[in-house]
Amino acid sequence: MKVSVIGAGFVGLTTALGLAEKGHDVVCVDVSEERVKQLNSGIVPFFEPDVEELLQRQLERGKFRATLETGLAISDTEMSIICVGTPSTDKGIDLGYVINAALDIGKYIQAGNFHVVVVKSTVVPGSVDSDIKSALEKSTGLVAGQDFGLAMNPEFLREGCAVNDFMDPDRIVIGADDEQSGKILERLYVDFDCPVIVTSTRNAEMIKYASNSVLATLISFANEIASICESVPGLSEEVVMNGLFEDRRFWCASDEGEYSRKRPELISYLRGGIGFGGSCFPKDVTALHRFANHAGHEAKMLQSVLEINYARSDAIIRRLENSMGESVSGKKIAVIGTAFKQDTDDLRESPAVRIIASLQTKGAEVMVHDPMVKEKSIQEAVGNVAFDVASSLEEALESAWGAIIATAWNDYKEADWPFLASKMKSAIIFDGRQVIPAEQQGKGFVLLKSGNADDFKAS
Ligand code: UGA
Repeated sequence: MKVSVIGAGFVGLTTALGLAEKGHDVVCVDVSEERVKQLNSGIVPFFEPDVEELLQRQLERGKFRATLETGLAISDTEMSIICVGTPSTDKGIDLGYVINAALDIGKYIQAGNFHVVVVKSTVVPGSVDSDIKSALEKSTGLVAGQDFGLAMNPEFLREGCAVNDFMDPDRIVIGADDEQSGKILERLYVDFDCPVIVTSTRNAEMIKYASNSVLATLISFANEIASICESVPGLSEEVVMNGLFEDRRFWCASDEGEYSRKRPELISYLRGGIGFGGSCFPKDVTALHRFANHAGHEAKMLQSVLEINYARSDAIIRRLENSMGESVSGKKIAVIGTAFKQDTDDLRESPAVRIIASLQTKGAEVMVHDPMVKEKSIQEAVGNVAFDVASSLEEALESAWGAIIATAWNDYKEADWPFLASKMKSAIIFDGRQVIPAEQQGKGFVLLKSGNADDFKAS
């Protein structure tokens, strides 16, 4: 099929290139002249594994191109997929970019050829069949579902493995309020081997929010248990959770119904630590919470999921201070890892950024290390906060009073922590990501384990 993708960000570009790889002819529209130029020369303006290789392959095959011209893209394609941002505001999500994209696309939709407009941006239930539909009908002067198609197709791409998630999805959700739009979108995905859920646009919108909210809830549940365990000597969240996971309802079952003690991937979200971040969980849980309140339901659990998450940074710093026996004020504290998770340079809502800001408020001398994130990006993310950047783990930990591991980079999993700790002034390390291997734990340093009241003492 011939497809336009509106917005060449992380979701838009991955979608465009994935569809091109599957044989579709894709044109990606973006408002940034520089980005369009970069993409047409094979350069990806952000870090995401495998995207640059995929871009270069699709350019060579002639299956992908980027443009500034919405009109040329729309009139030459059967479908437009909107992949622009929906930022959070105090009142809910800001639909402005989606509405502008819809108004823009609408100008070029001709009567008689049933061009389908697909919303992939994350929008609260009712957005597609009300505001977005109205914008398109106003701009086209045509009727949705009759003269042109309209559908919702949420994305489920994790940063760091977006290409793989696109090419080998767990499910495809197609929300359409008219049959023809749904059928055309099903054709787009005909070569994907996974369940396809066809439902209303509202259910499709809600599936996306419920999916992210349940994962965030698992993390906050584990952090709630971790915080209780941290308040009572002798308790260990790790031991407690492992006890839970032996329940066969946490095991995997084969198609024949046979259980194996193999654990489903999902339970990795059920471990306490540093809290969740990124451009999706905090924004989507907040949006669903506000949306629910607006709809007359006080979503108390979602409120708690957020509160537990944001309370984690200060709790971790208090834990460090308790172990040090004094305040972090005036002392060098190392924050090890700044990205919101490994394999990305994304700092949006990163727990490390919250920790850096809290440490600085408490008067600590903050030293940060990250193998991928640039100093300029950290400065932009933390705002008017002073910190130093170390070019190696050794430099970060040299003379530090304490360290907080905030990102599970492979380099950190492979590091020699007893050696690094020997460089510290007081060797106290909070491992918020379970990166320090068991055989190194407690060797020459005090390990503060998440979910464990007792310091793991140096030997
Ligand atoms: C998330 C969802 O996982 C995707 O399914 C969804 O499509 C995407 O949001 C989106 O809405 O676009 P992402 O934010 O990239 O993807 O990352 P995750 O890997 O799920 O991580 C989110 C947060 O959970 C991070 O802070 C991460 O550190 C934390 N996390 C992740 C854990 O604490 N444990 C894990 O096992 C995985």
